[in-house]
Amino acid sequence: MTVSDPVVENAVATVSRTATEIRQGLVGRRGTVDEENPTGDTQVEADVWADDLLADRLSSIDGVGQYASEERPEPMDCGGDPATESDTYAIAVDPLDGSSNLRSNNSMGTIFGIYDARVPARGETIVAAGYVLYGPITTMVVATDETVTEYELTGGERTVVRRDVTLPDDPVVYGFGGRVPDWPDEFREYARTIEDELKLRYSGAMIGDVNQVLTYGGIFGYPGLESRPEGKLRLQFEGNPIGYVVEQAGGRSSNGETSLLSVDPDELHERTPLHVGSAALIDRLESTLG
Ligand code: AHG
Ligand code: MN
Ligand code: MN
Repeated sequence: MTVSDPVVENAVATVSRTATEIRQGLVGRRGTVDEENPTGDTQVEADVWADDLLADRLSSIDGVGQYASEERPEPMDCGGDPATESDTYAIAVDPLDGSSNLRSNNSMGTIFGIYDARVPARGETIVAAGYVLYGPITTMVVATDETVTEYELTGGERTVVRRDVTLPDDPVVYGFGGRVPDWPDEFREYARTIEDELKLRYSGAMIGDVNQVLTYGGIFGYPGLESRPEGKLRLQFEGNPIGYVVEQAGGRSSNGETSLLSVDPDELHERTPLHVGSAALIDRLESTLG
């Protein structure tokens, strides 16, 4: 990976080191706490703990002006203004994606987006983004404006395992969130055609499913629902960073109408319908929904 900016390089290295600590600390932190996060999800101990750890480590980096997280109501100001100072950035994280999978011991992730703007901001202001996948082994995918790289993480070390990651040409897997009766008719119609073509992979952690899409090609979607038209996933912490990764890998992201990265946010914790994957599949989805 080439990251020319030292602040960005430092932030990426810090996330990768902290991820190793997060993974080691999951044991004993599977229970829920008596709190909800700003979007109303029940927090587990590990959500709060991973957020505190990332806040502590990332906010102490020179050039990180804001730390924002799915688990805290407001961004933390930590020196410098990403809007006016060059080489000062905001970092938005989903400390543990799919944390309800802790109970059943399935995959989870950590997502981060580095914005050259105060958050909430458009995804187009992202300069680097990525995620850690806590699977049987811990891997990390980092996207910059130049390339997408996959690493393995062991004992704080980051080893490249795949350079210039791109989505395979022939899509293989799909995963869609939400209950089928709660899907709008147009989305159900689209899903019906996809079921005939691809294999189902749904893990309960977006990162687990997105990493399948990046490996095998295909589509992951969490649509707007009849009961919740705004969808479930959060634009700043999940949609924009993952949209950036998939677009840099040659795929597309969409809220059903347009790239996630071009959406103007109204507030930090806003949700969005989210679709990422092979460009032709996202094009088809937009024509069916449109
Ligand atoms: P988080 O644990 O950060 O709140 O994210 C959970 C998300 C996402 O990872 C996943 O795709 C989706 O919620 C799963 O939702 P369902 O349980 O509705 O399938
Ligand atoms: Mn999440
Ligand atoms: Mn989370």
